[in-house]
Amino acid sequence: MVELKYQSGFGNQFESEAELGVLPVGQNSPQKVTGGLYTEQVTGTAFTAPRSSMQRSWVYRIRPSVQHMTNLEPVHAGLIRTGPDNSGAPIATQLRWDPFPTIAPEATWLTGLATVATNGNSELQTGGAVHHFAASRSMDDTAFVNTDGELMLAPYLGRLLLRTEMGYLELAPGQIAVIPRGIKFSVDLMDTAARGYVCENYGAAFRLPEHGIVGVDANALPRDFEYPVAMYDTESRPTKLVAKISGALFANELDHSPFDVVAWHGNLAPYRYELRRFCAVGPVVFDHPDPSIWTLLSSPSDTAGTANLDFILFREHWRVAEHSFRPPWFHSNVMSELMALIEGVYDAKVEGFVPGGISIHNSFIPHGPDSDAFRSATDADLVPSKGPDSLAVMWESRYRWVPTSWAMTLSELQEDYPSRWSELKSERG
Ligand SMILES: [Fe+2]
Repeated sequence: MVELKYQSGFGNQFESEAELGVLPVGQNSPQKVTGGLYTEQVTGTAFTAPRSSMQRSWVYRIRPSVQHMTNLEPVHAGLIRTGPDNSGAPIATQLRWDPFPTIAPEATWLTGLATVATNGNSELQTGGAVHHFAASRSMDDTAFVNTDGELMLAPYLGRLLLRTEMGYLELAPGQIAVIPRGIKFSVDLMDTAARGYVCENYGAAFRLPEHGIVGVDANALPRDFEYPVAMYDTESRPTKLVAKISGALFANELDHSPFDVVAWHGNLAPYRYELRRFCAVGPVVFDHPDPSIWTLLSSPSDTAGTANLDFILFREHWRVAEHSFRPPWFHSNVMSELMALIEGVYDAKVEGFVPGGISIHNSFIPHGPDSDAFRSATDADLVPSKGPDSLAVMWESRYRWVPTSWAMTLSELQEDYPSRWSELKSERG
């Protein structure tokens, strides 16, 4: 396959054409489009949204997408759940899982998708879901579109090729990709197997967080976000389209490929990001600061500073704080945390938290370093040290995560997890 090209800059107004000269100049909707293409607008925000958050693109395609969402027949949703998921029940303790299992042999990204937890309500555009996928086959001539939320893919095993209406993205462990809601895509495997996490965001699209006194640089830099260039299927391949609408799955058979956008322009498009480009800032004097300084992307809610979903990255970094307990403190917070490990070892958990697993610490469920991590950090020689080269991620929400009945009945659920803190005795002798 040819080396893919990308356009860079978070939320930029991009333009790209796979055939020279087809993109209209000076207007969006000419009477006739060069190349005999259909003009279509796709919006990610309401027409009257504040300009700073406005998302829309114009696409110029071989056939209009009004032909796509017709004659859809209901299909079984498998283990895909959408909030509110009434099969789940409130959980009043800390939760953690070993790596999630493969749910079906010969699965694709889509048929190998299982929901771990949901929160909020997709119809009210609040909250989200976290899924796990395990695939050994490409989707090939199956396309998927999710109308309930944008999808953030975070693989921890195997490279993926994401074919989208706006072009192709390669995605490897250590990278994330975000597919806006309503954009059709297909996931092919570039290796023999692929596994990873998917965060589905029902709320406002992920954006770069406000930066306050941190200033213009550090953390995730806008230029490191990469967007595809226009590519389209030159053969008219029959394609099965699967759509998720209000939590239900539907499918139909198209006599052509929906990946037929020859040119597009705008700021609504899929993108990818290399996690190790994240330039973390941290404590250079004493104490452990709030993890919010490591927010990579944020989906704001209607309450200022209280996220619908924050995406936070914990990566390798130098630890230099003096006379301090350097790992995260014990804490009991209003926000609800769902953590996953992509690579390496997370420094507040010595064992039991591995790639492919997940932990959930909901609102006001106390948690923190386990017994071993507490002991080693308390007794550590406080010389400058570099943490393990790991990538741990957290989807933090103002809404409590509700694990699915599937997740709660797995043997991978670590029933002894809360006892990881039981060895913490009184230090008073
Ligand atoms: Fe926490």
